[in-house]
Amino acid sequence: MRNKVTKAIFPVAGLGTRFLPATKSVPKEILTLVDRPLIQYAIDEARAAGIKEFIFVTSRGKGALEDYFDHSPQLESELRRKGKKELLKTLKETNMDSGAIAYIRQHKAMGLGHAVWCARRLIGNEPFAVILPDDVIAAEKPCLKQMVEAYEETGGSMVAAMEVPHDKTSSYGILDVEQQFGNMLPVRGMVEKPAQGTEPSNLAVIGRYILAPSVLNNLNKIKAGSGGEIQLTDAIAQEIAEGRRVNGLRFDGQRFDCGSKAGFLQATISFALARHDLRDELFDYMNSVVAMDRAAQ
Ligand code: UTP
Repeated sequence: MRNKVTKAIFPVAGLGTRFLPATKSVPKEILTLVDRPLIQYAIDEARAAGIKEFIFVTSRGKGALEDYFDHSPQLESELRRKGKKELLKTLKETNMDSGAIAYIRQHKAMGLGHAVWCARRLIGNEPFAVILPDDVIAAEKPCLKQMVEAYEETGGSMVAAMEVPHDKTSSYGILDVEQQFGNMLPVRGMVEKPAQGTEPSNLAVIGRYILAPSVLNNLNKIKAGSGGEIQLTDAIAQEIAEGRRVNGLRFDGQRFDCGSKAGFLQATISFALARHDLRDELFDYMNSVVAMDRAAQ
């Protein structure tokens, strides 16, 4: 019987430089798509996949993130008094059970692998998920749930994979796979941000992982890699080198890179258009903007 995946690490200790000056005082994960912060999408996805323990790797200046999950008795009683049941329900979704959430500090942004390693004592000897909240995935069945179901069949470690244009591969961890067809991709190698023209495929790893605890041991030994950072990709590649199984899962869904401005704006439009209370007004506005732009050309 395979261990169930009940713990997830959310590495949120990065500097978020691409969103400066906003991220000077607001954590990137608190930036909102319509009216929900990025972190809420990540938490909802984790809950839907059966995660019970939520481990945040944070850094200086992320206080707003910790406050976000606190209960807010005053606000709740005010909404109750005014009979605002829907808002009360929305607010309750942000609450975490006591003891379900933990914060670990990464003292220096030394890379994603290092951030995951910082949480090692809270993981112990069981498989765990890693979710990067700036990758937001719109999917009928949440991406991590797809992965947990696939993992229950395969074991080992699993990464979410998607095809990207070849000229973008140098921005991602890229998979070297045994075969390219189907959704389950047995991985025989992984390379972080390969130089243009050296990429083993155009299958990129995006921010969802289910990892065997042995990956944490690998992180103990790994030296700084691409960009001078401790890379999670290198620790997963080590699994393959030591004969343990790693699979890529080509998930169903649309991924938005909300760590970039263009991706964040695309997600904002897409999520707003999916909302029946906003769709018509936004659609009309977008049509008028496009028409004005065309007329001006
Ligand atoms: P990014 O590569 O997007 O870096 O990290 P960043 O600092 O968040 O943003 P930019 O590039 O400066 O704009 C991917 C994920 O890994 C986390 C980040 O918080 C983000 O969720 N991370 C990265 C850490 O937790 N620690 C690190 O040392 C690096």
